[in-house]
Amino acid sequence: MMLRSMFAAVLAVAVILPAATAAAGPIEDRQAIMKGNGRDTKMGGEMLKGVVPFDAAVANKILANYAAAAKAFPAHFPANSKTGGDTEASSAIWTMPADWKIATDKFQKDTAAAAALKPTDAATFGKAFGMVTANCKTCHEGFRIKKN
Ligand code: HEC
Repeated sequence: MMLRSMFAAVLAVAVILPAATAAAGPIEDRQAIMKGNGRDTKMGGEMLKGVVPFDAAVANKILANYAAAAKAFPAHFPANSKTGGDTEASSAIWTMPADWKIATDKFQKDTAAAAALKPTDAATFGKAFGMVTANCKTCHEGFRIKKN
């Protein structure tokens, strides 16, 4: 009896999986947003370390990108995108929606405040950059399962 219901559960998963894989749109979209965050963070970090010279226009573009990314990101987690593709999204996003909302709201608030600083020098950009990047690790620890 128990074996049979386990077999039924396995069958159900097998039937559900192809549908989840087909819905790769939101997973790719949210990963693309995060890849942008990764590129911007690398560029911003290089500017702050003096690897590349400080450029106010680039700095402000990075901060504007962060704010746009934070705004767009939460819309790409429909219930049918929990698995599939090569998603690293943690199931906590769906099982702890209140905590997820706190994290995404904070990211939006901090990126908006950072962009509003409109830095014209490296020190102010460093402050804005720090306000934003404090969110990366915290959210990844709670809501991202790193696969590699
Ligand atoms: C509110 C939560 C949250 C914040 C804040 C956040 N991330 Fe993420 N990040 C995620 C989640 C969730 C994933 C996994 C998405 C997936 O695979 O479906 C991810 C994935 C990534 C990836 C991998 C993308 C890929 O698939 O190649 C990079 C790079 C990344 N984040 C960089 C950053 C950086 C840099 C910051 C800070 C500027 C940041 N993230 C802030 C939640 C967040």
